[in-house]
Amino acid sequence: MKNLTADELRNLYLSFFESKGHKIIPGASVIPENDPTVLFTTAGMHPLVPYLMGAMEHPAGTRLTDVQKCVRTGDIDEVGDAAHLTFFEMLGNWSLNDYFKREAISWSFEFLTTKLGFKPEQLNVTVFRGEGKEGEEGYIPADEEAVEIWKSLGLPDERIFRLPREDNWWGPAGTTGPCGPDTEMFIDTGKEKCGPECRPGCHCGKYIEIWNDVFMQYNKNEEGKFLPLGRHNVDTGMGVERTICMMSGAPTVYDTEIFAPIMKAIDEMSNVPAGMNPADVLKARRVIADHMRTATFILCDPKGGVKPGNVGANYVLRRLIRRAVRFARQLGIAEGFTVKMAEVVCEKYKHVYPELAENLETCRNDLAQEEKRFNATLDKGEAMYNKVAEQLKAHGQSQISGKTAFKLYDTFGFPIELTLEMAAKDGLTVDKAGFDEANLKHQELSRTTSAGSFKAGLQDNSEVVTRMHTATHLLHAALHQVLGPTANQKGSNITAERLRFDFAWPQKLTDEQKAAVEKLVNEWIEQGIEVTKKMTTVEEAKAEGAMALFGAKYGDQVSLYSIGDVSKEICCGPHVQNTKELGSFKIKKEEASSAGVRRIKAVIGNM
Ligand code: ALA
Repeated sequence: MKNLTADELRNLYLSFFESKGHKIIPGASVIPENDPTVLFTTAGMHPLVPYLMGAMEHPAGTRLTDVQKCVRTGDIDEVGDAAHLTFFEMLGNWSLNDYFKREAISWSFEFLTTKLGFKPEQLNVTVFRGEGKEGEEGYIPADEEAVEIWKSLGLPDERIFRLPREDNWWGPAGTTGPCGPDTEMFIDTGKEKCGPECRPGCHCGKYIEIWNDVFMQYNKNEEGKFLPLGRHNVDTGMGVERTICMMSGAPTVYDTEIFAPIMKAIDEMSNVPAGMNPADVLKARRVIADHMRTATFILCDPKGGVKPGNVGANYVLRRLIRRAVRFARQLGIAEGFTVKMAEVVCEKYKHVYPELAENLETCRNDLAQEEKRFNATLDKGEAMYNKVAEQLKAHGQSQISGKTAFKLYDTFGFPIELTLEMAAKDGLTVDKAGFDEANLKHQELSRTTSAGSFKAGLQDNSEVVTRMHTATHLLHAALHQVLGPTANQKGSNITAERLRFDFAWPQKLTDEQKAAVEKLVNEWIEQGIEVTKKMTTVEEAKAEGAMALFGAKYGDQVSLYSIGDVSKEICCGPHVQNTKELGSFKIKKEEASSAGVRRIKAVIGNM
């Protein structure tokens, strides 16, 4: 295979598909333009959904190709290993009811083997094995057509794997929309199999997926049924970072030319403490590189509007920056590094994404401010933690009480994760259950505090916003119960004063409907239902009937918030631990938002 740079790969891909009759279209913003069901653009198909559905004709025609900036943060805690990235570039080609499987698969094969130089023997593919019984509801046939096409290209049967829906079905990206069986292409790295069951899709690192051809012939409707779309679309996605990694033979994506200047800058700024475990150093370097690349792309996005904050996309951005700051401190990197990282990322990518240079100035300011703010918090918290640890040791004790851990968090804003981390290093334990209890108690207490005591401070604000956030999940569930499963969320906006919730519904709600929604939400608050969070995959979450508020490819880890049996939503949080913390719920206004979309404004608690 050839050893291309990302620049060369992008150009080669676009010109190859141009030669097959495709029009090159610009990639979209990483912050979705018109899709409130996702926080970020997670795949090249997102901006093309109306065209894939056949609702509109694309002005550039029926064969399209582009490079799309994607952000997927569902598995942010996995970043640091060899493969997980929160930002990546996706090369894609689409047929909008034009060509279908034969052309798509043949061109994928041709591009991989003749343009990229992969040997056909390195290639392993997976195809959809079908589900259900013929003649029965829900039956979807196996994709034998794809198998035959791969065979006709010379792939032997033993390198074609027939796998179930979990592996070989893509979409919809949100709760409803276009989807279908796919065929995924994996490069065999030549490593030993990790066991007899090892096959493409196994995460041991032997097989790396670099491209996915999706045959979008189905539409998943509001009831969760897969109906024929009446169109034969193709949606493909090739990962730039992984492909470059496979072509160069680099051990991980971080060892490719894409990350080279970023890693170099990190190493130049590092002052690694003697004796730090090399595995920890490796992880910290990768987390900083990944998170700062993603944060820079989000802050420089031409659509703009996402700043470090406490809810939704803003919160995801804050987590990325703050996580990078925490890991940078471990490596002894001085304050100001976020700005330097943004400059390096901008330098590397600005010829492809001019918005990086155009918006660098505001990006630098936002980063500097967030880094400074978080560092000040950490400094104070660390000093306090050290005092606590010294006192414990002086008294021959080894456990930090829940109350003390909570005080570090509540008074000094010191994240519980850091208390846990530092305690582990000092050979101390932390009463985490005690911390959780103190945290819950505190939240109950502030619920009963009068409205006047809500200061403008971050702590109070974030708490109100957290409660509002849980309230939107209850409202969403109540709308589904009162109006039916089509009353889906179209958008939401939360301030410390009120929540605003947009949902699909064709007409004004009656007074009875509004009263019923309000009553349901208040009943759930009264019942004091536990809010639980678990990490899972999108596929499993959907199988449990969860509402997905942002799409991610199957297999990605996402957090699933459940409120008893009332609500299950994939979401980034944060949420309260018990619905009681909301106090009460009141709808203040119900009005039209746009055609087919209504808007509710509501308040909670004693505000
Ligand atoms: N939309 C498909 C994916 O993300 C191509 O894998």
